[in-house]
Amino acid sequence: MSHDATQTPELVAFSKDIKALDLNPLWERTVSQQPGSACQAKLWSWADLKPQLMKACELIGTKLAERRVLMLENPTMRGSSFIANTLFTGLQIILPGEVAAAHRHTPNALRFVVEGKGAYTAVAGERAMMQPGDFLVTPNWSWHDHGNIGNEPVVWMDGLDSAFTKFFGATFREDYPEDVQPLYRSEGDSTAAFGSALLPVDYKAETHASPILRYPYERTCEALRHLYKSQPLHAAHGVKLRYANPADGKYPFPTMAAFMQFMPKGFDGKKYRSTENIVFNVAEGTGTVTIKGQSFAFGPHDIFVAPSWCEISFKTNEDCTIFSYSDRAAQDAMGFFRDEVL
Ligand SMILES: [Fe+2]
Repeated sequence: MSHDATQTPELVAFSKDIKALDLNPLWERTVSQQPGSACQAKLWSWADLKPQLMKACELIGTKLAERRVLMLENPTMRGSSFIANTLFTGLQIILPGEVAAAHRHTPNALRFVVEGKGAYTAVAGERAMMQPGDFLVTPNWSWHDHGNIGNEPVVWMDGLDSAFTKFFGATFREDYPEDVQPLYRSEGDSTAAFGSALLPVDYKAETHASPILRYPYERTCEALRHLYKSQPLHAAHGVKLRYANPADGKYPFPTMAAFMQFMPKGFDGKKYRSTENIVFNVAEGTGTVTIKGQSFAFGPHDIFVAPSWCEISFKTNEDCTIFSYSDRAAQDAMGFFRDEVL
């Protein structure tokens, strides 16, 4: 039926009448049934981000701010706190001697360490020192606090699935009575128990999130480099690995997937698109990424977002190692995920 055929005077009058009852006729097809979203592709350069983080340090302390975080908001979603329909991205900076007080919340959180050494995160009674390039897991409703016991500022990217809890109306948070939670596990416990393709003999998963607190950068790079030398490159991704939950082989979170990819100098990747909303953070290297026909030159620590169903392709000037996270875990669970190399 053509659109005009649904716009007879009788039908137009009918549509108008039923609005008073909060009803709307489906046959007018006002809602898009296409993949993709209204979000824009965008790159935030480290050259712009770092000075603003340092400025924030002059203006506000962690006592007042609780978390000194600059949120990266999609230009189409100002005021939402989200970088895409389904994802939150923040950049957090913590100065020597500062503590980000313990709390917990229903959103899951990931950290990707950008710059600086000497900061720790403590999650569910275990502390891990954070090194640049590390990927860290804060499962839903786990107590967590951060501190800097080194002598330089430390910056990391926070990725949260708070858009999901907001969507469901299921956002809860709670402060711990002390700034710093008590530690009842030794540093490295979760790595020893779960990080070597081994599991404690009677282990039963208590949450949907990975029991590994820290996935170290050097181990991830070692795996990528080995595979680069031994296997052909993927036409779009180079060598791309996903971080796994060792308990079930799935994703580190029920909602979010996380990845690291290596693309050698001179890589000229094919176009790829998927239903994922993806946030990238460049660990090392320079190049150009083209998202939905828009090209962005990138360098270390730049952050960019590729919304759902946007074509994305990479060209590299140097060897590049790039972290990313997306909503693929949720989409896989719901059977929505689709992708293609073009
Ligand atoms: Fe938090």
